[in-house]
Amino acid sequence: MCNFMDFVPKSRRMEMKFSEFVDSMHKREEEGGEERVYLQQTLNDTVGKKIVVDFLGFNWNWINRQQATLNWGPLTSNLLLVGMEGNVTPAHYDEQQNFFAQIKGHKRCILFPPDQFECLYSYPVHHPCDRQSQVDFDNPNYEKFPNFKNVVGYEAVVGPGDVLYIPMYWWHHIESLLNGGVTITVNFWYKGAPTPKKIEYPLRAHQKVAIMRNIEKMLGEALGDPHEVGPLLKTMIKGRYDQGLS
Ligand code: SIN
Ligand code: FE
Repeated sequence: MCNFMDFVPKSRRMEMKFSEFVDSMHKREEEGGEERVYLQQTLNDTVGKKIVVDFLGFNWNWINRQQATLNWGPLTSNLLLVGMEGNVTPAHYDEQQNFFAQIKGHKRCILFPPDQFECLYSYPVHHPCDRQSQVDFDNPNYEKFPNFKNVVGYEAVVGPGDVLYIPMYWWHHIESLLNGGVTITVNFWYKGAPTPKKIEYPLRAHQKVAIMRNIEKMLGEALGDPHEVGPLLKTMIKGRYDQGLS
């Protein structure tokens, strides 16, 4: 049985004041070691007045028009990210639409459409890294993840003033460029458009991902233990589908 309890996360969450974050970032820059910090703060009414004023200065007319044209649901949250050069957010997908607004510094963004799911080996739904790829992009284990050799994506480098649209269920690997200094981004997350009343076939890749997620969740509930989902799915596939019963 695979056990997520043995999993050692690569990052940890620390609560601190903004001034403490800036000090710790400068300290790590000077030391030049492996350890990095990355501020990820939801923009809510606990943040300072000055940030709120900056926030109100975004081009809300433009973004509200996009939301209306694309028939998206409400804006759910904004995340402020302040990162050090070289910081990496490993490939993952989100279940919301995202306008990724770059404010300072440059970020390299590699995007993969949902039809690349089989090449990216997501962690199981109940794992702490749910929605994230298990593949280490710097040192891929092709024996374990052979389809990663075939992955095809899009690359973009965004700089101040650029807004990148990261569609719902699209994978994204994001890194702050080396030697580019501090990076600042604000994410605008929106609920997707309502599911169409009439389902059209064949289903699209992102709809299949949503179905797989629901099946994993339901199995976890039915079995009473999420760790049993993986072995059960493996047995099902080996016992039935590998034998041509699909
Ligand atoms: C990042 O900019 O590092 C991550 C943003 C995201 O995943 O939406
Ligand atoms: Fe994301």
